[in-house]
Amino acid sequence: MPVISAPHAFNESQLYVDLRSILGHSLYLKCEGFNFAGSIKLKAANEMVESAEREGVLKPDSILVESSSGNLGVALSTIAASKGYQFLCVTDSRCNLSTRLLMEALGSEVHVISELDANAGFLGARIDYVRALCASDDRYVWLSQYTNPGNWKAHYRTTAPEIASYFPGLDVLFVGAGTTGTLMGCARYFRTWHRPVRIVAVDSVGSVAFGGTPGRRMIPGLGMSMRPPLLDESFVDEVIRVEEADTIRTCHRLARRGFVFGGSTGTVVSGAMDWLGRQDAPGITAVAIAPDLGERYLDTIYQTNWLQDLYGENILDPEQVAVGQSGAGPAPDPPEPPDTPPRRRSR
Ligand SMILES: Cc1ncc(COP(=O)(O)O)c(C=O)c1O
Repeated sequence: MPVISAPHAFNESQLYVDLRSILGHSLYLKCEGFNFAGSIKLKAANEMVESAEREGVLKPDSILVESSSGNLGVALSTIAASKGYQFLCVTDSRCNLSTRLLMEALGSEVHVISELDANAGFLGARIDYVRALCASDDRYVWLSQYTNPGNWKAHYRTTAPEIASYFPGLDVLFVGAGTTGTLMGCARYFRTWHRPVRIVAVDSVGSVAFGGTPGRRMIPGLGMSMRPPLLDESFVDEVIRVEEADTIRTCHRLARRGFVFGGSTGTVVSGAMDWLGRQDAPGITAVAIAPDLGERYLDTIYQTNWLQDLYGENILDPEQVAVGQSGAGPAPDPPEPPDTPPRRRSR
């Protein structure tokens, strides 16, 4: 029975959903939304705050400031409230209302940018605002999730070994890419420990994280309007891009089977299902990471008017959001948790 006295001291790390009976391919979805910040970003926030404390950058009168589309902002709000720091989150008009209200409930200040930077989109405008704040007052401390190595190290230390210990025979790992902290931490872990795991990055169409043409993106979390400074593509085996309409349909398919996940989970699962559908390898062991749950998206991804205004009347056409048995047989038995730390395997 876990008993805690700080919100960041608890993080469910052992929960997977097997999607075979819902979507037709065996895919184990690692659920990262069960903690007091409600998302995987608690791990990165914790690591970055602790290393700033160790390095003496954070002092009792410091004001934390960060650019976030929402989840890191909630995670930093949670930690700041627990540790007694002030926190200012710089977000933009795509941030969900409930996410903004949650940060305010935790005692944070939220600044919403509504003007796009002509060249660098919302992200460029958010970063400019943070830079100007830091230049105006040296009490501001910007952890900078886009460049802070603590962002990927958090996943190297936690997410990746958690997966490796349950899936010693893992073949492929699907990871959504935003700042690429999760992607780089996991990819570096499997490469360092010589595990022959194919690392597939999942991005949204319209993101330029891995190159390509910029386009409209309305679902926060995944995708970037610049190349992520943390990204080292030599660790990534493959990149797949998913249309937001497919993200939304996948979210609704899962919701109609009782699993209400956030938008980026829809993106990762949609990309993974396409990828698995193209393989001729029935016994493949595949894991995908679900960064958060769906309650923060009730007024967007799960709201018909919002969907139809942005994606057209037919976005939730029943044929496109088909529910029901996919014809796949029962899932293979999940792997037994090992008693020992992950074994090393040569490539
Ligand atoms: C819901 C959600 N999914 C995915 C990501 C991407 O994670 P990362 O920044 O580690 O690439 C984020 C990042 O904020 C997120 O909030």
